[in-house]
Amino acid sequence: MKIPFFNNKQPGAFNMHYPDQNTPDHVAIIMDGNGRWAKKRGMPRVAGHKEGISTVVKIVKAAVKCKVKVLTLYTFSTENWKRPKSEVDTILRLPKEFLSIYLPDLISNNVRIEAIGDMANLPVHTREAVQYAIDRTRDNDGLQLNFALNYGSRHEILKAMKVLLMDIDNGEMSLDELDEQQFSRYLDTDGMKDPDLLIRTGGEQRLSNFLLWQLAYTEFWFTDVLWPEFSEKEFVHALEAYRQRARRYGGIQDDQKKNYY
Ligand code: FPP
Repeated sequence: MKIPFFNNKQPGAFNMHYPDQNTPDHVAIIMDGNGRWAKKRGMPRVAGHKEGISTVVKIVKAAVKCKVKVLTLYTFSTENWKRPKSEVDTILRLPKEFLSIYLPDLISNNVRIEAIGDMANLPVHTREAVQYAIDRTRDNDGLQLNFALNYGSRHEILKAMKVLLMDIDNGEMSLDELDEQQFSRYLDTDGMKDPDLLIRTGGEQRLSNFLLWQLAYTEFWFTDVLWPEFSEKEFVHALEAYRQRARRYGGIQDDQKKNYY
C-alpha cells in the first residue's frame, strides 16, 4: 500500500513543531531493529525490512519539512552479505520497490537521490533502479537522499588509499599537498558536508563500520525505538536534542574564552 508522501490529514500533522533554527545540514541514520520488530510479532525478519520502507517514507518527508540538506541512510552494509541469502535478496529488492512507488513524489518534492558504497557488486536490478533515480533527480536542489548500499567504511577508506597511492605514483597528488580535505575527496562522500547528526535506532550504541572518517565530530543520538516504529515525532525530537548541543570541535566556547583562567 502506498503511504501518501505528504498527507496533512495524518493525526498530529498540524500540531507538529518543526525546528527551524540550528537544524543539522546532514543527518545520517543507522536504521536498526527491523528483524526484532518482526520477531516480536511472530513474523519473518524480512517483514521488518519491508515495514522499514514506511519509516523511510515518513523520515524523508520529515527531513524535507525540517529543511535538512542531506539525509544518508545505511541501507545495506558490506557485512550484511553474511546474512541468509533470502534476507539479503529481500533487502536488495527494497530500493527498487521503494523507488518504483515513490520516485515521482521524490521528484516533485525536489529530492536528489545519490548513493555511496560499491554499487558494482549489487544485483543489476538494484543498481539500475538506483542509477535511474540518480539520473532522473540529478538537477534537483532540495534534500539530497543518499542510500549507503554495499557500504562499509573500512572498505571505503582502503579503496580511497589505493587510488590515492596510484595518484601519488603518477604525480597527480603529492605528499606535500595531501591533507584531510584532499583525502576526503577520495571518499564516496566527496563533495558532501560531514554528518552533523547521527541517529541510530534499535537500542545498540555502535557505529557498525558506518562513515568512520566522516563522523569524527558528529553528534550522536541513540534511541531504543526499533526502525519500523521510528516516527516523524522521534526524528524531530532528535533534531531538538541536536539543537541543544554545543559543538566545540576540540576547542572551547567563545564565552569561555572571555573569562579564561
Ligand atoms: C538493520 O536491522 C537493517 C538493515 C540491515 C536493513 C535496512 C533496510 C531498510 C530499513 C529498508 C530500507 C529501504 C530503502 C528503500 C532505503 P536488523 O535487521 O539488523 O535488525 P535487528 O537488529 O533487529 O536484527
